[in-house]
Amino acid sequence: MTRPLPIGVLLSGSGTNLQAIIDAIERKELSATITVVISNRADAYGLERARQHGLPAVVISHKDFSSREAFEAELVNMLNTYGVTLVVLAGFMRLLSPFFIRAFPQRIMNIHPALLPAFPGTHAQRQALERGVRIAGATVHFVDEEMDHGPIIVQAAVPVYPDDTEDTLSARILVQEHRIYAHAIQLYAKGCLTIRGHSVVILDEPRAPTSTLHAPVQT
Ligand code: GRF
Repeated sequence: MTRPLPIGVLLSGSGTNLQAIIDAIERKELSATITVVISNRADAYGLERARQHGLPAVVISHKDFSSREAFEAELVNMLNTYGVTLVVLAGFMRLLSPFFIRAFPQRIMNIHPALLPAFPGTHAQRQALERGVRIAGATVHFVDEEMDHGPIIVQAAVPVYPDDTEDTLSARILVQEHRIYAHAIQLYAKGCLTIRGHSVVILDEPRAPTSTLHAPVQT
C-alpha cells in the first residue's frame, strides 16, 4: 500500500470543505493525511475543526508581516516544516503571488463555487444569479498564477431555481464541493492526474453518463 499523501489545508473561514476532507479520510475514501491546517485568521472555525480531530492548527496572520512576500515565505516555511506535498486551498481568502505558487509547482489545488471559467473571483454564486444561468456548480482546479484560472480537475453541476437566493444556491453548490474536493485529491494521491497545457488528463477516466441536467425541466 502506498503512503498516504501529506496535505496541508489553508483556510480563512468555517472550514466545511476541510471537514469533508477529514470525513473522507476517516471513511478511507481518501488516502491522504492532513499534516497541518493553516489559517490567516485566528477566529476561523476551521481551526477548531482541525483541533477537534487532533490536527495541528496554525495561525499565520498576514497582518503580522510587512509584505505579502514575507507572509507567504512563512506559509511556505510552515508547509515544508510539516512535510506537505499537496497544498489544498479551502476558502483561503488571500491572493497568492507567483512567489508562493512557484514554491509548490503543480502542487496547489483550489475549489471555486462556480463552473469555471464562468464567474471567477468573489461572490461567484451572486454573479451566477445576476447573470441568470440555469445551471451552476463547483470546480476543483490546480492553481496557476491567475486567479481561479488553472487546469480544471473535477466539476459538478447543480440546477438554479427561480426563487434561489445567494444563500440557497451557495448551500446547493456546497454539497457538491464536499463531494468533489476529496475526489480530486484522491485522484492526485493515486497519481492519476497529468497536466497537459491547460488541461488535466485523468488516467483511466470513467465516463460520466450522458444524462442531461436540463433546467428548467421540460414538462
Ligand atoms: C467555498 O464555497 C469555496 O468554494 C470557496 O470558499 C468557500 C469555503 O467554505 N473557495 P468552507 O470554509 O469550506 O465552508
